Amino acid sequence: MSLPKINPTKTEAWKALETHFQEMKGQQLQDVFLKDSARADCFKIEWQDFYLDYSKNRITEETLSLLVKLAEEVKLKKAINQQFSGEKINETENREVLHTALRDFNNLKPEVKATLQKMKFFSEEIINGSHKGFTGKAITDIVNIGIGGSHLGPEMVTEALQFYRNHLKIHFIANIDGDAVAESLKKLNPETTLFIVVSKSFTTQETIANASVLRSWFLKNASETDIQKHFVAVSANVKGAKDFGISEENIFPMQDWVGGRFSLWSSVGLSICCAIGFKNFEAMLKGALEMDNHFRKESFDKNIPVILALLSIWYNNFFKTESEAVVAYSQYLHKLVPYLQQAVMESNGKSVDRNGEKINYQTGTIVWGNVGSNSQHAYFQLLHQGTKLIPTDFIGFSESLHGNSENHNILMANFFAQTEALWEGTHNKNVENAFKFFEGNKPTNSILIEKLTPKNLGSLIAIYEHKLFVQGIIWNIFSYDQWGVELGKTVAKGTLKAIENKNASKVENRSTANLLKKFQKK
Ligand code: F6P
Repeated sequence: MSLPKINPTKTEAWKALETHFQEMKGQQLQDVFLKDSARADCFKIEWQDFYLDYSKNRITEETLSLLVKLAEEVKLKKAINQQFSGEKINETENREVLHTALRDFNNLKPEVKATLQKMKFFSEEIINGSHKGFTGKAITDIVNIGIGGSHLGPEMVTEALQFYRNHLKIHFIANIDGDAVAESLKKLNPETTLFIVVSKSFTTQETIANASVLRSWFLKNASETDIQKHFVAVSANVKGAKDFGISEENIFPMQDWVGGRFSLWSSVGLSICCAIGFKNFEAMLKGALEMDNHFRKESFDKNIPVILALLSIWYNNFFKTESEAVVAYSQYLHKLVPYLQQAVMESNGKSVDRNGEKINYQTGTIVWGNVGSNSQHAYFQLLHQGTKLIPTDFIGFSESLHGNSENHNILMANFFAQTEALWEGTHNKNVENAFKFFEGNKPTNSILIEKLTPKNLGSLIAIYEHKLFVQGIIWNIFSYDQWGVELGKTVAKGTLKAIENKNASKVENRSTANLLKKFQKK
């Protein structure tokens, strides 16, 4: 059965939200907040180690109940069940969407179990040094060669869980930029480096080209047979990996039903597994599973991903905000935003609905941000006093991992203070002049988590995965394909040919032709 195909703007709830928005748009809600002390208790969700405070939003109970009604009218519950039960909800690619099955420990598919076992065994050998390189030395450095989902998730997680890391150094080569590759090579010794070539398709231009460069570099010092000790692959295209020269036992399979941007839970997470050990990797998966269960079972008004998605829809489609920021008050999470950018924008950057019709309402939000408190000294001015409304998620932890409470108190005081200042502004206060006036009324969600553990990180990532799914369902789009990235790839192939054959004059687009001529003058 296919996903419901309901135009959200035609629902009763949407129409009611439009009317409701007219009442809400000019309201300064700071007063409501001050008068109604129960508001902060009402608009919050406590779940395991997570505390979500969404009271600093431009909503009332009516807003929330209309948004929940919208989710019901577009049959969100049915869509959630369809995803988890493995229906082919990625209709344009005729695929199931089952990244959640990778962490469903009560019901692991045999092939998932087998791959996890293989990852466990292999990562243990790398960590304990029993896997030796071609000169008999243990591995010290791991290079993950992959791009997009085959890079961003593993890098984000290995950075986020640095506290739990072992002695292995992990490097990521994603960009085809040869200078970047050369800089990485400077740090590596072929005798002690393991290369993990990660590509679901095993056809991605950047990954295959970079892997070939690295193989040639390796072969300057070693022989073809040594490749088996130093190159492994993660792919759904076993033949492609074998053709590249990687032996079958060195291939970690992944399934067709795992989308690239949701694949860090699969064998794509091999570098994570090596960096933090299998136990921690498993804990992360279990954290995600806990969130999956919350998402599946909890009523919409108490459901963290659903509430975050509905709030985002409220701003995107009614206030017409274009972007939303994510600011994590933890340096460990400095790669979270690039990861979310792919997850959210590759999924929901669509303008054709599930009926194949052009959409006349806004879909995919632009996600941006950086870590706090650094961001405060960069773009927060615009959040506070700019002309744009930018809903922002604040993420922080109650405990510092190294126990440096002095710094941590300052860090988190900034988190709490910023959400308050954004909300209250200088409302009802005397200010010297217009330049010092802060309108306030700026929406934020505060996600306060006990501690940055592998388990909690797993839950946090799953929150955002489910949030984007809910939004895609409401917008009536297919979130799990990415046809939009294909055209650029095809054009690039032709452009490369023109460069290699020095054929700029044959390129039809005159602007591109001029650029190529200039480029080739070098
Ligand atoms: O071009 C986009 C994309 O297909 C992403 O969806 C994917 O994560 C990335 O390229 C890498 O793909 P692969 O893992 O097949 O190399």
